[in-house]
Amino acid sequence: MSDHELDPLPYDYDALEPHISEQVLTWHHDTHHQGYVNGLNAAEETLAENRESGDHGSTAGALGNVTHNGSGHYLHTLFWNNMSPNGGGEPDGELADRIAEDFGSYEAWKAEFEAAAGAAGGWALLVYDPVAKQLRNVKVDKHDQGALWGAHPILALDVWEHSYYHDYGPARGEFIDAFFEVVDWDDVADNYDNVVPRFE
Ligand SMILES: [Fe+2]
Repeated sequence: MSDHELDPLPYDYDALEPHISEQVLTWHHDTHHQGYVNGLNAAEETLAENRESGDHGSTAGALGNVTHNGSGHYLHTLFWNNMSPNGGGEPDGELADRIAEDFGSYEAWKAEFEAAAGAAGGWALLVYDPVAKQLRNVKVDKHDQGALWGAHPILALDVWEHSYYHDYGPARGEFIDAFFEVVDWDDVADNYDNVVPRFE
């Protein structure tokens, strides 16, 4: 389709300070996320041209660019919406019950998620796996390596260096702690409610 567009952030660029700086959100959204949107559109244009011409010399590369940039676009959109200046705290309601059921406790889930975030070369995700019918944590490298097919991310934490290095330097753990100060659990619960009834 080649007409993907970057939505504005759902809050002001300085809204998540002091946890995430205005400078980092500006670069991260306007430069990095925009780059993935542009990359996805360009790759789709290449694929359309190649289908038309029958010359598939650049097709394999473009297909790789679709999953890299497309996953980058979709995960960043989730990440922005997963945060709020009014965030923090812990989940409640059905989501909290499900986390306790599938991971043992909120604390056990959080420790596993933090381990994923500390080691990932891309993202830590909380996903709903519709095959096993359970929540899982997933450790993603880049934007698309280590994905679990069919799973639906409901919470995403970007641990690329562009996400935190300007604010925290190599202290990624401090950034992970800061993320939990701004997680919008209502948004995560909405994502859970939108996904799970389709499969259970
Ligand atoms: Fe990012």
